[in-house]
Amino acid sequence: MAGMRPMSQADLPRAAALGAAIGWNQVAADWRVFLDLGAVQVVDDGGAALAATAAILPHGPDLAWISMVLVRPDQRRRGLATALLQWALAALAGRRSIALDATPAGRAVYARLGFRDAWGFTRMSLPPELPGGGASHPIADWPAALAQDARAFGAPREALLRGLAGRGGGRQAPGGFALARDGLRAAQIGPVIGQGACGLIADLRATLPGPAIIDVNDAATGVANWLVDAGARIERPFTRMVLGATLPGEARHIIAPAGPEFG
Ligand SMILES: CC(C)(COP(=O)(O)OP(=O)(O)OC[C@H]1O[C@@H](n2cnc3c(N)ncnc32)[C@H](O)[C@@H]1OP(=O)(O)O)[C@@H](O)C(=O)NCCC(=O)NCCS
Repeated sequence: MAGMRPMSQADLPRAAALGAAIGWNQVAADWRVFLDLGAVQVVDDGGAALAATAAILPHGPDLAWISMVLVRPDQRRRGLATALLQWALAALAGRRSIALDATPAGRAVYARLGFRDAWGFTRMSLPPELPGGGASHPIADWPAALAQDARAFGAPREALLRGLAGRGGGRQAPGGFALARDGLRAAQIGPVIGQGACGLIADLRATLPGPAIIDVNDAATGVANWLVDAGARIERPFTRMVLGATLPGEARHIIAPAGPEFG
């Protein structure tokens, strides 16, 4: 396909411009995660924003994520997303499971390529304050948090999690932890893993001055109801999809994913 090539550091501003133009939340630091730990392929037609992007992020030898599948509105329905996905699938050939978190628009593209629905989650924007909390502390025991995460997510992802915590901090309590990071429109809380999620989210929210969002596992109905009762607003649904073997891990311990771009 004309103009398709790997992304470089020099493309960061025009990749960020594409995301911002369609209302996504990622900042340059998010794109850098893929350049550092994965790869990004772009379609470049010389515009002020890139024409299209897709990223891959390996999570250990068996699992990988596909994300940042974005096509500039004037370039849609020409097969760009499909061509970028074919690049991603070729680059990830041999993994047991390839997963992604689809928007309703993306789900149509992925289903055609054989991706199956695994489970759903819902983006919520959080009120400035949440009730409760007070029992967590900043993350002190990283080995415990990383072990809880690897068990729930199904693969190790230390570099990713430490990088996110470096941007927005984290809270920990016995049996669970939560991280936050900055975003273009709102800070994002995630992942939230294990026990004590409501207190962790309340304490983390209190450290974030501006707007904040979280993606809540649809199976975590207690947490979701608590958030809605506290004034959280439901924004949009995502579907976690997988190609190949069933997703590893224990999804019931994922209260909130890291975010659709990271898994
Ligand atoms: C979703 C998106 C990436 C699709 O990009 P695209 O380049 O237009 O997709 P393709 O041209 O490869 O589409 C392939 C097929 O998917 C289906 N499809 C694509 N967009 C669709 C839509 N909005 N509604 C229904 N089906 C759709 C069609 O069957 C299409 O084939 P056709 O055009 O021959 O009918 C693009 O609309 C986009 O960037 N949306 C906003 C960001 C987003 O939601 N990204 C997905 C993240 S998971």
